Amino acid sequence: MARGRFIAFEGGEGAGKSTQAKLLAEHLRGQGFEVVVTREPGGTPGGEAIRGLVLDPSGDGWEAEAEALLFAAARSDHVARLIRPALDRGAWVVSDRFLDSSRAYQGGGGGLDDEAIMELHRFGSNGLLPDLTILIDVPEGDIAERLARRDGGESDRIGGRDGAFHRRVRDAFARFANLEPNRFATIDGSGEIGATQAAIVKAIQPLLAGS
Ligand code: TYD
Repeated sequence: MARGRFIAFEGGEGAGKSTQAKLLAEHLRGQGFEVVVTREPGGTPGGEAIRGLVLDPSGDGWEAEAEALLFAAARSDHVARLIRPALDRGAWVVSDRFLDSSRAYQGGGGGLDDEAIMELHRFGSNGLLPDLTILIDVPEGDIAERLARRDGGESDRIGGRDGAFHRRVRDAFARFANLEPNRFATIDGSGEIGATQAAIVKAIQPLLAGS
């Protein structure tokens, strides 16, 4: 049995990642593949428990280092218990966020060193990388409008950080994609859902060819 493929969706808040992850999964199932759709932080009971801790913390929340460790711990459980077993049995895995969210949010946004985040990932998840990371890029103005509609002014601990934080996150994602053009596909998410989906289906063609 050939190993499955691992696709991660990345981007800022309200970029349409979860909608596009579901649509891509339906497309792949239509081609006869088993597809596991998952998200970070989350995906396993332990990962979901950590999600509650990071997105809705008690007291004063977490220092940047502790927050990075929690995301890495959630990812470690997710990789060991869900992602690797699925890939090993030949399934495709589509994850709404993965490692590059830690690099963009805790690194770009929060100021932690990228190498430190990579080191946690090597230790926690044996350095597993997606076969392709789809970065959905949406202009800042559009995002504010979508989030107001989606969250009605209520956002979680991280989503609610200020505009400067989210600009740093967006810049960091763009930088990673520029530095590793083979690992990333940047998709314009400002148009209609169907147009974005068509661009994503096109971007994953090389993965289908090899499976
Ligand atoms: P979620 O509700 O899934 O946000 P969105 O719908 O925008 O994807 O919440 C995940 C939040 O956690 C989001 O603000 C990004 C943040 N996050 C990190 O800061 N670091 C990480 O490693 C991950 C996976 C998420």
